[in-house]
Amino acid sequence: MSAVDDALRGELLACWTDVSNAGGAVGFVPPVTQDDVAPVLGRLLEGVHSGRDVLAVLTVDGATAGWAALVRSLSPLRRHWATVLRVQVHPSWQGQGLGRALMTGVHGIAQQQGCEFLSLTARGGTGVDAFYRGLGYREVGRLPGAIRVAPGDDRDEILLHCRL
Ligand SMILES: CC(C)(COP(=O)(O)OP(=O)(O)OC[C@H]1O[C@@H](n2cnc3c(N)ncnc32)[C@H](O)[C@@H]1OP(=O)(O)O)[C@@H](O)C(=O)NCCC(=O)NCCS
Repeated sequence: MSAVDDALRGELLACWTDVSNAGGAVGFVPPVTQDDVAPVLGRLLEGVHSGRDVLAVLTVDGATAGWAALVRSLSPLRRHWATVLRVQVHPSWQGQGLGRALMTGVHGIAQQQGCEFLSLTARGGTGVDAFYRGLGYREVGRLPGAIRVAPGDDRDEILLHCRL
C-alpha cells in the first residue's frame, strides 16, 4: 500500500499504540499514548507517500489487524534489498498464524519489487527472533546492548537476514 488516508492512519496508530502497551518490541516501551507514537508514524508515512517505501496491511473482516513497513534505501547501491520495520499484529489477534500471514505478504511485495533479500532487527530478550527464524531468517550479527529499554536493562539488537 502506498497511499494512506486519515482512516487507515488512525487504525495504524491505534494498532501500534496497543501493541506497544502490550509490551511489543516496536520502538517503544510501555506506557505510550497515541500522541507519543503519532510523530514516529508520521515520519514512516513520509517514506510511503514519497513512493519509496510500502506498507503491508493485514486485515480481518475489513479491519486492520496488523501491519509492517518495507523500507527501501536511498542509495543506488542498495536497491536489491529492503528493510522490514514495525512488524506487528494487534494483541487481540496474536497467536493465530496472522503474523506468519503478514510476513508472507511482506515477502510477496518485496519479490514484486525485485528485492533479493530482506533485513530486519529484533530486540534481544523478547524471543521474537524465533518467530523470524521460523520464517527462514537467520541471525547475521548483533549489536550488544544497543537498546536501553530501562536503566540497567540493555538489550542486544539482533540483525536478521532472509534471502527471498
Ligand atoms: C511477533 C508477532 C508479529 C507474531 O505474530 P503472531 O500472529 O502472534 O504470530 P503467529 O501466530 O503467526 O506465529 C507464527 C509462529 O511464530 C511463533 N512465534 C510467534 N511469536 C513468537 C514469539 N514472540 N516468540 C517465539 N515464537 C513466536 C509462533 O509460535 C508460531 O510458531 P509455529 O508456526 O511453530 O506454531 C506478534 O506477536 C507481535 O505483533 N508482537 C508484538 C510486536 C513485536 O514485538 N514485533 C516484532 C518486531 S521485531
